[in-house]
Amino acid sequence: MCGIVGIIGTEPVAVRLLDALKRLEYRGYDSAGIATLHDGKLERRRAKGKLVALEKRLSDEPLGGTIGIGHTRWATHGKPTEKNAHPHISGGVCVVHNGIIENFKILRAELASDGYDFVTETDTEVIAHLIAREIDAGNDPQAALKASLERLEGAFALAVLFQGHDNLMIGARRGSPFAIGYGSDDQPGMFIGSDAFALAPFTNRIAYLEEGDWVVLSKDSATIYDEGGAQVNRPITTSMANALLVDKGNHRHFMAKEIHEQPEVISRTLSHYIDLGNEKVDFSSLDIDFQSLDRLSITACGTAYYAGLVAKYWIEKWGGLPVDVDVASEFRYREPLLSDNGAALFVSQSGETADTLACLAYCNEKNQKTLSIVNVQESSIARGSDAVLPTLAGPEIGVASTKAFTCQLTVLAALTIHIGRQRGVLSKEQEVELVHSLVEVPRLISEMLVEEAKIDAISQQLVHAKDVLYLGRGIHYPLALEGALKLKEISYIHAEAYAAGELKHGPIALIDENMPVVVVVPKDGLFDKTISNCQEVAARGGQIIFISDCDAKTTGCDFVSQISLPRGNEFIAPLLCAIPVQLLAYYTAVHMGTDVDQPRNLAKSVTVE
Ligand code: G6P
Repeated sequence: MCGIVGIIGTEPVAVRLLDALKRLEYRGYDSAGIATLHDGKLERRRAKGKLVALEKRLSDEPLGGTIGIGHTRWATHGKPTEKNAHPHISGGVCVVHNGIIENFKILRAELASDGYDFVTETDTEVIAHLIAREIDAGNDPQAALKASLERLEGAFALAVLFQGHDNLMIGARRGSPFAIGYGSDDQPGMFIGSDAFALAPFTNRIAYLEEGDWVVLSKDSATIYDEGGAQVNRPITTSMANALLVDKGNHRHFMAKEIHEQPEVISRTLSHYIDLGNEKVDFSSLDIDFQSLDRLSITACGTAYYAGLVAKYWIEKWGGLPVDVDVASEFRYREPLLSDNGAALFVSQSGETADTLACLAYCNEKNQKTLSIVNVQESSIARGSDAVLPTLAGPEIGVASTKAFTCQLTVLAALTIHIGRQRGVLSKEQEVELVHSLVEVPRLISEMLVEEAKIDAISQQLVHAKDVLYLGRGIHYPLALEGALKLKEISYIHAEAYAAGELKHGPIALIDENMPVVVVVPKDGLFDKTISNCQEVAARGGQIIFISDCDAKTTGCDFVSQISLPRGNEFIAPLLCAIPVQLLAYYTAVHMGTDVDQPRNLAKSVTVE
């Protein structure tokens, strides 16, 4: 998703803006640009592609100035060309924008008929012209911005410079998150950015704009207004983003580093929810009576949705509570009927995904008890929920989610035990057994990671495939879905997941000797049924990669290769299966030479519909 940064200070800003943009790279982008005000004039540099291209432009043609804005663009309206890259300028107004202006066509026609020339295909350009038109009508920048905001429909964050005002920057937020950074004696100035991460090298004193807020920044002040124009205070917090500054360590990619961090971050997350001394889960601060609920609805997107699907199997079997799981973009428009006595759970790494956020708003409106599992505790989803269950995964930079997913599963597994106990479905003894199995997970994952070279070798079988099928049954079906998603995200190989029992209803027609089939099949009550499906694949020449804690040879089936899982309690199998499907996708992508951490067209945090 687009990233925004702005600095207004006393030192040259261009290089610092570029540094901040590098810290927003993880969000996904396809062009970038920077503009500054220097000697009373607006100047900008933009480039298609990665930030190295912009860096090169800046080194060929440096930008002066101590006030400036920068942007990484993830194209929505208009191709990722230099012309469409932000910042956009109209007269003396310069704008960067994240989000979508839904009424841009109407505004564009109106502004064009007023004589404003459009030179890009973007929706953002209407913002620059709208504000410029207000300035041309004699309004000051503040009044111009306020009047323009009233005309905009959609979700956005934007930052604006005004030629002739070298101690002024205005930012606004509707929908998309926006952080304000307060400088210090060491690093004077004021900062604005899409997240606290971007600002971490400059300051850890951060305030977040609330929905509808806009802010007027000078070198040493921030005056915040709410949607109605009343001056408001937003609390300044000390951000941890600096302490969590991230690099790849000894790993080639952030994704590899994050896969390897899983034992540690799962441990950290477990220690938040498990009272090991008393061999029980601890949700004492969670004010929801699961015993009296008649339904839990889970909503999420992407990988987080698959975590929700696993939770449905867990919570219905071990928690005794009916669960619905929805993709957020579907839930929000299908006018779902919610139980009077239901709770709604939202799962999101970023806590900013636009569709999930919209579902939260819907459920709050319908008086559901709302609960979120998020990795970013200051996020909009966390702040909008009645209760928050954090995942302690630390910052996840690789676009393809790995450690956030397993930490979501960890929280959901612990929550399942809590629900099971509250509803009287699990005995104390069963709770002890499940808790013990959960605390084994970090060790078992560490053991699996030692064996990763085997998965690296097996991944060679996927490198030349055009299509890959993933199969799983029951609680492992979501892991097949997650495996297929990971593979297509980072290797660009088409992959599809099917519930193994559905094989005969269609996908079996695709099977031949060129079709690798990854089967996720730890030993459980459905094992033999999935093995029968494997036989059907093998009989048609399909090349099976078998992920299981059972020896493939004992099944009598003709497997090409096996990825062995450690044997644990059946309850924790989804957590263990996550690792090989991540590694298989990772090594396939590495062999293919794709951009593993920033795959084409994808964004880490999707703040548009
Ligand atoms: C994007 C990311 C995925 C992520 C999904 C949901 O598509 O690329 O990795 O699973 O958004 O994001 P969230 O932050 O809500 O978990």
